[in-house]
Amino acid sequence: MRIHPLLLLVVIGVKSKGLFDFKTDTLDNFNGGRRLLASGSLRTLTDILRQLKFPIPKVGPASNMYKLKWSAKLEHKAFVYGENKSSFPDLEFQSFKYDGLVGFQWPGVLGEVISKILGPLLPHKVFRDILDSFINILESLLMAIILAVNYPKDLPVADDVNLGATEALFAHRYEIGCYTKIVYSICFMEPSRNGGYLYHFGVPCSNCSTHCEFFEDDNGFIEEGDLCVPPETESNATAALEVKQERIESNGSFCSVFPLMLIALISTCLQKFY
Ligand SMILES: *[C@@H]1O[C@H](CO)[C@@H](O)[C@H](O)[C@H]1NC(C)=O
Ligand SMILES: *[C@@H]1O[C@H](CO)[C@@H](O)[C@H](O)[C@H]1NC(C)=O
Ligand SMILES: *[C@@H]1O[C@H](CO)[C@@H](O)[C@H](O)[C@H]1NC(C)=O
Ligand SMILES: *[C@@H]1O[C@H](CO)[C@@H](O)[C@H](O)[C@H]1NC(C)=O
Repeated sequence: MRIHPLLLLVVIGVKSKGLFDFKTDTLDNFNGGRRLLASGSLRTLTDILRQLKFPIPKVGPASNMYKLKWSAKLEHKAFVYGENKSSFPDLEFQSFKYDGLVGFQWPGVLGEVISKILGPLLPHKVFRDILDSFINILESLLMAIILAVNYPKDLPVADDVNLGATEALFAHRYEIGCYTKIVYSICFMEPSRNGGYLYHFGVPCSNCSTHCEFFEDDNGFIEEGDLCVPPETESNATAALEVKQERIESNGSFCSVFPLMLIALISTCLQKFY
């Protein structure tokens, strides 16, 4: 593995938050986008823009939008696919087929790396907070653009139409797995396109095979959410996936891992001071 020692330090530096939170953060971002669509919030926005004669499609609300759950199998496929890929994304943001799955590019943890490197250099917490919110806004904007840029103008979409990251908005899909290359990530989902329709139009979570998600509001009341809870069983596409169990070479592994553990420990201690 050719990896620059400095990069390794950076990677380990962000490990406590960046990489270990990568799964939950990524899932939260996708589900946030799906919730916006399902709830009808985007519909209000698109209706206003359409009245101003912007040629954009109506978006949502959706009655059958599942909440996504993480799939270790899909994550593994993304890892195998991404292992030998360039460290920089290809800027056409196409979706692609691989091993019976559909894949696309998504923002990585670059923002977090930048905030981890620049943050400690800033003299005051106020500046660090400004930097973090600035990066946060940029990242959200980037995600919104990536989701919108390939949003289909005509329905139903044919099987060969490139949807880029909009693949993540198919209501009936409920599993996702991604692998981060720092600057960008690669995500995989099962490829079925529901006859070319992203979702079924209607009252949020009124057409689910499961029940609706719940959450607790500020007053502690349990409220019904806009997404359908994902089924517990795997989808047919992921159930069919064979994940080869790669044997971890164990000989001498402690010796090669020990320095990394030390660096991780030191960097974690250092972070406590910031
Ligand atoms: C990636 O590269 C490694 C080493 O060069 C090789 O063993 C592996 O098969 C490659 N993986 C893919 C998916 O091409
Ligand atoms: C539920 O959704 C499916 C497509 O996902 C649609 O064919 C069906 O008509 C919907 N049912 C209702 C009651 O909206
Ligand atoms: C999954 O496979 C089962 C059995 O082969 C089939 O009945 C079902 O329709 C499939 N589901 C989907 C979503 O393709
Ligand atoms: C690990 O050690 C065993 C015996 O100690 C040896 O047979 C095996 O080939 C070693 N594997 C590697 C990858 O070095």
